[in-house]
Amino acid sequence: MCGIVGYIGSGGAKDVIIDGLRRLEYRGYDSAGIALMTDGGLTVRKTIGRIDSLEAIIKDLDGSSHMGIGHTRWATHGAPSDANAHPHTNGDGSIAIVHNGIIENYLELKEWLISEHGAVFRSETDTEVAAHLIGAFYKGDLLDAVYEAAAKMRGAYAIGAMAASEPDRIVAVRKDAPLIAGIGDDCNFLASDIPALLKYVRTIYLIENNETALITRSGVTIYDGNRREVKRDVFHVNWDADAAEKEGYDHFMLKEIHEQPKGVFETLDRRLGKGDEIKLDGISLTREDLLAIDRVYIVACGTAYHAGLVGKRLIEGFAGLPVETDIASEFRYRDPCVNEKTLFICISQSGETLDTLEALREAKRKGARVLSVVNVVGSSVARESDDVFYTWAGPEIAVASTKAYTTQLLCMYLIALYMARRLGRMGDEEYGRVVAELKGIPDKMRAVLESEGEIRDLAKSIYKNESVFFIGRGMDAHVALEGSLKLKEVSYINSFAIAAGELKHGTIALIEQGSLVFALATQDRLFDKMLSNIQEVKARGAKVIGLAKQAAEDDVKLFRRSRHGKGEPYRKQESGYLDRSADETIYVPDCADEVAPLLAVLPLQLLAYHIAKLRGCDIDKPKNLAKSVTVE
Ligand code: G6P
Repeated sequence: MCGIVGYIGSGGAKDVIIDGLRRLEYRGYDSAGIALMTDGGLTVRKTIGRIDSLEAIIKDLDGSSHMGIGHTRWATHGAPSDANAHPHTNGDGSIAIVHNGIIENYLELKEWLISEHGAVFRSETDTEVAAHLIGAFYKGDLLDAVYEAAAKMRGAYAIGAMAASEPDRIVAVRKDAPLIAGIGDDCNFLASDIPALLKYVRTIYLIENNETALITRSGVTIYDGNRREVKRDVFHVNWDADAAEKEGYDHFMLKEIHEQPKGVFETLDRRLGKGDEIKLDGISLTREDLLAIDRVYIVACGTAYHAGLVGKRLIEGFAGLPVETDIASEFRYRDPCVNEKTLFICISQSGETLDTLEALREAKRKGARVLSVVNVVGSSVARESDDVFYTWAGPEIAVASTKAYTTQLLCMYLIALYMARRLGRMGDEEYGRVVAELKGIPDKMRAVLESEGEIRDLAKSIYKNESVFFIGRGMDAHVALEGSLKLKEVSYINSFAIAAGELKHGTIALIEQGSLVFALATQDRLFDKMLSNIQEVKARGAKVIGLAKQAAEDDVKLFRRSRHGKGEPYRKQESGYLDRSADETIYVPDCADEVAPLLAVLPLQLLAYHIAKLRGCDIDKPKNLAKSVTVE
């Protein structure tokens, strides 16, 4: 949450910082500010609103300043306002800081600063407390003062600080909030995230927890918590700055939706070896390790949690291991039954979500082995896990997650298949069938994306609805949750998702004449049941938009309800069958039930996007949300 950029070099700090902040707006965008070193000392300007508003109030500032720090904020302590925007300064304005995270003991520190130092506060933020604290310890050496202040602060923080009397250094400190230093040519940088710096540098240092960095024009020195210099290997960013650009699309969200066939192809292609055997790079789980595991936990937040729900079904279905899924913020406070026999899987696009990170730490403390599915290389979750499986989705900029979700899903298929094979719980034929289905997904995704025009037309007919329901069974129940989340995130429509069978236990009371219901019916084995649920909501006046697989007319076969071929037979759904029940139907290409989530979510993402566009919403930066949530 919130973005930090710092620069020190020969000049041009203002432009570098503004450019970096623009690339970080996805982290928070309710207010922004900058502190520049000028002849007269520190000049601080800040404002409510986006980077454009900041740019407007710094037009008069000299562009030749050689150093500065900037910030884009997502409010935690104190509403978005000019006063609460960063940078914050100490009493006499001689020290300026930008901060991401939350200083939990800020009230205690504030009282101490008021009683012992007569501090006067101008904002409601915890950050201003940190600025005064550094000021209180400042005796001419900013590094010393930051050290002393950090020793007093509890909570999470990434801080960049400047002192008016030290025009040759930026000092940074990190605890539980991401921070990197970029290595330039006769200049160096500070940032909370890689995209901020890609235009300028590709060689960076990842600053670790409890480390402090001294950034000067000629170099970056990192110190550990005991102030010993740390030798850190540089990290080379191998993705392109262009990947973080819109490339002609109106919004990052749309671009990222369209990148899914490629993302899924790459995530899969890199992992299929000779004879289509799965190579789990970064994962060293052996058959013996797996045999020693008696329970799997999948823990995540938001969209990543929804991918975890599908993952549970896959691991249980393919590998026969019991799996629990949990939301990270719940898991970490509920004393879960985790021990050395637990495999803890956490899923995170950013790898920086604080709740997920803390859940991971809790699982580690209890002895679990930690496997993470992460998009951002070198992120905190990746670094603290025993095994890391990267999603290779490329940078995801839009707040609403799309390509991260489908690549996370794909990773869950691969992990589940890998476990099933290692444990000898899936035969060659079944394995070959599922892998073939997965290999067919990128082309089928392209086919769904080609029907964007139809989805846009559908969006035109429904975008004024203020309340929408998503229902589904089996895997579809999980996709319904994700479809509903996408819609509410970007269009602010009150949307609600529920397992279709559960509808009658309360929620159906809300269905009335004209209610809009999305009924996901991609699961052949549950198709008849879904038809009944559709009838139930239609009988109460709902307008139903169905989502089903486009099976070929002659492809109507008898299947069995369990994967072992036993149990009640069921018919593969017939093409057009849903048309007779739903008011309108969206079709995705035919596929096996197990892989349907990879396709079913696409029309829902596109619908959310086009509905939000028709409603005039700020799609890439929805109100109140941030891409990377590094606060509790
Ligand atoms: C935020 C984002 C969501 C994301 C969630 C988890 O709420 O807006 O899109 O799903 O955090 O983020 P992570 O980076 O851990 O996947």
